[in-house]
Amino acid sequence: MDLNSRLMQKLAEAGQSHVLQFCSELSPEEQVELTNDLQDMDFKEINEFFKSAMETSNSSKHEKMDARMEPVPQEVLGSVTRDRASLKTWEAEGLDCVSQNKVAALLLAGGQGTRLGVSYPKGMYDVGLPSHKTLFQIQAERILKLQQLAEQKNKKKCCVPWYIMTSGRTMESTKDFFSQHNYFGLDKNNVVFFQQGMLPAMDFNGKIILESKGKLSMAPDGNGGLYRSLGNQGVLDDMEHRGIQYIHVYCVDNILVKVADPTFIGFCAKKGAECGAKVVEKTNPTEAVGVVCKVDGRYQVVEYSEITLPTAEKRSADGRLMFNAGNIANHFFSFSFLKDVVQKFEPQLQHHVAQKKIPYVDAQGRLIKPEKPNGIKMEKFVFDIFQFAKTFVVFEVLREDEFSPLKNADAQDGKDTPTTARHALMSLHHRWVLNAGGHFIDENGTRVPAIPSSRGGAAGSVSDGGPRNLKDGTDLPIKCEISPLVSYGGEGLEDLVKGREFHPTLMIDERGVHQLVKNGV
Ligand code: UD1
Repeated sequence: MDLNSRLMQKLAEAGQSHVLQFCSELSPEEQVELTNDLQDMDFKEINEFFKSAMETSNSSKHEKMDARMEPVPQEVLGSVTRDRASLKTWEAEGLDCVSQNKVAALLLAGGQGTRLGVSYPKGMYDVGLPSHKTLFQIQAERILKLQQLAEQKNKKKCCVPWYIMTSGRTMESTKDFFSQHNYFGLDKNNVVFFQQGMLPAMDFNGKIILESKGKLSMAPDGNGGLYRSLGNQGVLDDMEHRGIQYIHVYCVDNILVKVADPTFIGFCAKKGAECGAKVVEKTNPTEAVGVVCKVDGRYQVVEYSEITLPTAEKRSADGRLMFNAGNIANHFFSFSFLKDVVQKFEPQLQHHVAQKKIPYVDAQGRLIKPEKPNGIKMEKFVFDIFQFAKTFVVFEVLREDEFSPLKNADAQDGKDTPTTARHALMSLHHRWVLNAGGHFIDENGTRVPAIPSSRGGAAGSVSDGGPRNLKDGTDLPIKCEISPLVSYGGEGLEDLVKGREFHPTLMIDERGVHQLVKNGV
């Protein structure tokens, strides 16, 4: 066996020598690959992570958490509905920051898309819009449009650098995809890819799990792996070099995400916040979103899996859920706060434990697919740093305007699927057309009625009242898609649509207004 003795000693000291038990059965190439994988790993640190993660998860902390939770206080809350008078000021402030090159977008795209069931990065997913744009393309075009809006306002060229966190599994395919698509029109120098760490899956006794005779079972270290990688991949230095002051961090899967939203940035900047979270009102106690709240006086997101049903169901005097600040994974950080986190606070973050059914090879070398959880994956969460912020704010937005995540594959009545994401985007764009004075006519030439919105959406005052119930009983929205290159948030459409009637499918892009009357588009 030509594995070097230092590695063997390191493994022995950490009680992990079993990972080499099949070494003699491996080909020379497989041996080299395994050695390379093992060489860079700090097994003592991994054992420590395991110990403290298990201690935290076993300490029945979660039951006690309920009693320690308090809702977000009113004074840190901003809202697109309650603070309508301030929205323009916040947006102008945000656009000024953008035009001064102070704003960056940071995309968390290191997840594995397990629930969606695709083998490629989720950002490459095409939810079936008329344009067939992927999530990456939609986000890239929103950045392009935002730069243009800031340039128009302040007559100054500017850029919003886009930092994209991938994992060992998604890095190459993500980079290839961007390169094949010419960075969707963005300057390649302003799209910065970096890689988060990976950790091995462990059994309940703290032994690393082998997924085959020559391979450890590895998984990304959670979206909170961000902070370590910001430091060790040179990203923080790059931000400092560019003079970035405000960072919008968001998840890849929300088709409605307002990347580097100037109103959110402006709100947080005006409040002097170190850290901010965008939320939507959680209305269903069992919805799978975390809630932003205070625990022991410090801001935190309590995940849907960490809250008990009686607490999730608690209501305030106005009948709304008491813990209703639903986390949509859109966060604001000031650069100086992020720097403190990376340099001081990161080691204090605990890994969360997820018990999983992890395929493994047993002592006889057979691959076993367990039927019940046999081990854990360890993850840090991106919002675990909220607790360190001296000034924290929460910005409440409308779900129908800003949140429709893609989590699961299509299924009858499925939630958060390609179909729900596609419908949410088309329904929003339909409302933009109505708000800009356009109308739709149906297949019989009758105008589709515009129903006044009961909630007064941020994008305007009318809504389509949700999807129409068609003859065959399926709920379908009007097919309408507006390129982000034309409109970032519903603005600038009057000249194109005011007083006009459209047949679906309506597409508005940088080349003009197109009506694709035939079905099947
Ligand atoms: C996440 C939030 C949850 C919120 C919900 C809204 C976290 C920990 N939880 O939950 O509070 O209500 O979104 O949709 O943020 N990712 C990485 N690296 C990883 C793991 C994930 O970059 O190691 C990225 C994914 O690519 C994705 C994002 O983090 O963009 C969220 O991951 P996901 O597992 O989908 O989080 P949820 O459980 O849905």
